[in-house]
Amino acid sequence: MSDITKIILDCDPGHDDAVAIMLAAGSPKIELLGITTESGNQTIEKTSRNALKVLQWIGRGDIPVYMGCKGPMVREKMTAADIHGETGLDGPAFPEITLKLQEKHAVQYIVETLMASEEPITMVTTGPMTNLGMAIRMEPAIVEKIDKIVLMGGSYQNGNVTPAAEFNIICDPEAAYICFTCGRPVYMMGLDITRKVLCVPEVVERMKKIGNKASDLFVDLMAHFCRTQKEIFGFPGGPLHDPCTIVWLIAPDVITLKPMHTTIDISRGESYGRTNCDFFNYQKKSINSNVAVAVDVDRYWDVIEEELRRYS
Ligand code: RIB
Ligand code: CA
Repeated sequence: MSDITKIILDCDPGHDDAVAIMLAAGSPKIELLGITTESGNQTIEKTSRNALKVLQWIGRGDIPVYMGCKGPMVREKMTAADIHGETGLDGPAFPEITLKLQEKHAVQYIVETLMASEEPITMVTTGPMTNLGMAIRMEPAIVEKIDKIVLMGGSYQNGNVTPAAEFNIICDPEAAYICFTCGRPVYMMGLDITRKVLCVPEVVERMKKIGNKASDLFVDLMAHFCRTQKEIFGFPGGPLHDPCTIVWLIAPDVITLKPMHTTIDISRGESYGRTNCDFFNYQKKSINSNVAVAVDVDRYWDVIEEELRRYS
């Protein structure tokens, strides 16, 4: 069994998504087959351009990018321009984009890639789960080809959009519902741990010392991301949410997960989009998810630094 994990990264870059892309593209433990984009932090057009910007910056134009669905399955579209800015990746000065998006739709790419694969593929989602939800509905036969779903999203405690719901889930609760009930193992990196990996100024200074193209981009991304996170949530550093998925794949010991039964609230009440995680298994329902409950913060930044150092 190879210790290289084949993944498709489905994302809505987004500052923290951009760091996740750099980690996934650079790690020898991960084979990044392709990137599919979501409408989320910004519109699909902007998040797709942002994925190209990051890949071009790190010199990985060989990784294909497929534009995904233009909005969620049922609810109205949301964005997070207050955090990620008008472009969705405000802050860094990127050169003109010369890379091009693939013609094929992201959902088609996911279905075809999974169906053609000899071995199971890990689906990593760091944005709303629309593309994966649609792919499962389009071709249910892909489910057995999914090794696992590793997502940044949800929380077993408080949300960040409403008191109940986290952004990636509430952007498309119905898609999340499909993914959490598809029968494949779900590894949920929720706000419970991502809010513990705050990119405080000392961390930025530490990464700045690396002095390569990846760390330079990291520093410029964090200048914007940390400012808006402080303005809106009062955090001393931006919570580096999305890289938790990739760090866990690279170094599983960094994050502790607890098996739980999780349901997605798709009723249209106050808790719409909540990940209801049965922490104590009081309901004695079947386990469908592994929910992150702790993170070794020091090791997390060690892994981030190690992976950024791989770039020239
Ligand atoms: O709630 C945080 C999540 O929403 C992160 O993935 C961030 O990039 C946004 O997509
Ligand atoms: Ca994201």
